[in-house]
Amino acid sequence: MAAAGLLSSPIYAGRWVRRRLSPVNSANIEKTLILVKPDGVARGLTGEVIGRIERKGYAIVAVRMLHADREILLKHYAEHEGKPFLEPLIEFMSSGPIVAIVAQGNRVIEGFRKLAGVTDPTLAEPGTIRGDLARDQGTKVIQNIVHGSDSVESATREIGIFFPEL
Ligand code: RTP
Ligand code: MG
Repeated sequence: MAAAGLLSSPIYAGRWVRRRLSPVNSANIEKTLILVKPDGVARGLTGEVIGRIERKGYAIVAVRMLHADREILLKHYAEHEGKPFLEPLIEFMSSGPIVAIVAQGNRVIEGFRKLAGVTDPTLAEPGTIRGDLARDQGTKVIQNIVHGSDSVESATREIGIFFPEL
């Protein structure tokens, strides 16, 4: 089929329009807040997590190790206020040091969450951080190695909590 014929075909034209509108090919540089949680740090997986972020091609623009207190965690997890897992989550997240990371790249917010895998490590796909490195341990709250911001608004808010100087 000649080019003009292809474009006038509704199926081909539909795909062409979707590709043109898709964010995949447009510049959309973002920053995201990643935490290596106390289980990840205690197991010596900080380097593994940073390595996976870098091997994917994202830039690491800030790193900080800290022992998060209740106040900072209540701010960070404000969206989970009133949920039954909030208290056990804060207890877990303050049980040892964590490593806060800001990564940057095109669509890094969505991209890191794909690298992390779904929340429940039993269900997380092999090949993901949670799927490869975490498992259900029968704890009060799910321990799953990493946190990743879930939207541009969350990323901006969370980076402000852990890296107020940025
Ligand atoms: P994250 O915020 O850590 O990146 O994880 P997420 O978006 O996949 O999950 P979210 O719903 O935001 O929950 C935050 C963290 O709370 C713990 N959690 N435990 N039923 C449970 O035991 C439960 N539900 C949530 C997990 O550590 C989860 O990552
Ligand atoms: Mg979340």
